[in-house]
Amino acid sequence: MPKRILVTGGLGFIGTNLIALLRNNGNFEIRVLDNESLGRREYLTEFPEVEFICADLRDPEKVYEGLKDMDCVIHLAADTRVINSIVDPHLNFENNVVGTFNLLNAMRRANVPTIINASTGGAILGDVPPPVHEGMLPEPASPYGASKLAVEGYLSSFSKSYGFEACSLRFSNVYGPRSWHKGSVVAHFMKQLLRGKELVVYGDGSQKRDYIYVEDICQGILSAMQRRVSGVFQLGSGWPTTINKLIARISDVVGSGYPVSARYEDFRTGEILNTWCDISKAEAALGFSPSMPLDEGLARTWCWFIEHRQRLDQ
Ligand SMILES: NC(=O)c1ccc[n+]([C@@H]2O[C@H](COP(=O)([O-])OP(=O)(O)OC[C@H]3O[C@@H](n4cnc5c(N)ncnc54)[C@H](O)[C@@H]3O)[C@@H](O)[C@H]2O)c1
Repeated sequence: MPKRILVTGGLGFIGTNLIALLRNNGNFEIRVLDNESLGRREYLTEFPEVEFICADLRDPEKVYEGLKDMDCVIHLAADTRVINSIVDPHLNFENNVVGTFNLLNAMRRANVPTIINASTGGAILGDVPPPVHEGMLPEPASPYGASKLAVEGYLSSFSKSYGFEACSLRFSNVYGPRSWHKGSVVAHFMKQLLRGKELVVYGDGSQKRDYIYVEDICQGILSAMQRRVSGVFQLGSGWPTTINKLIARISDVVGSGYPVSARYEDFRTGEILNTWCDISKAEAALGFSPSMPLDEGLARTWCWFIEHRQRLDQ
């Protein structure tokens, strides 16, 4: 079992939640490598024991230095903005593809041959009939999805060429606490409600997604590390939820003090209409078993947003 873990992108939403889970599940030494482009250093103040290196994956020597004395890498760093990747595909390519290649190559030099990579389901597979699974032919709908597919390819090749233990976990739509900086739907809607604004839905709200609570995703990452698996795995709740149903659930959770109204606009290019995933491979290989009901996960997330609402003024 690896002890010393480098978490790339550890200032981000999933990274900070993962650090909280690792702290309670073993005696790990954690180092975070992040360029602070999306996450913030202050998000680590609740984890004073964690070492922080401010470095960009596009700088190969800094990445190599960051790997010193590590046993394993959990690779979460990425430019995660799907719509932005359509506006500036080159920036996305440099961060996600070149950045990950630099990381893998530095791992080879530093002899750290174990990596768990954060990948994505819907964005890689495109508009295919759900539930999506690992055997489907990928047809990415955005440069972000293409970058994640390229990264999966490099992991597979480093596994076969250099004996890396390399696994890619394809997350569905993750929501939960510590997501203030995110533009994803749950975080965005909750911030809009705190601002007293209406919610904008692209399409008629019947599009389905697979929403999974962040702690369930972090449990999946921990299992992948413990079981030393290689390959590609879908991680999600396995359940479809329409945007309209999500809004109704959020409305129940926030209560009458935050009236919810929604405006419907045209569907956006690059987004998938319906996607949710088949998690049977992860259930069998990782013992993956997401347990947070949507209502409770949303309630916990809302509590966190209320606690941190002073960020509206920052
Ligand atoms: N949140 C989701 O719903 C979701 C779904 C599918 C996949 N994922 C993947 O999971 C991973 C983590 O997602 P998240 O939601 O925590 O994202 P996030 O944006 O909160 O965190 C990403 C972190 O990576 C850092 N980063 C970006 N480019 C970097 C670079 N070039 N060098 C060093 N650091 C860099 C950012 O500063 C940020 O702290 C990402 O790889 C993302 O693609 C997330």
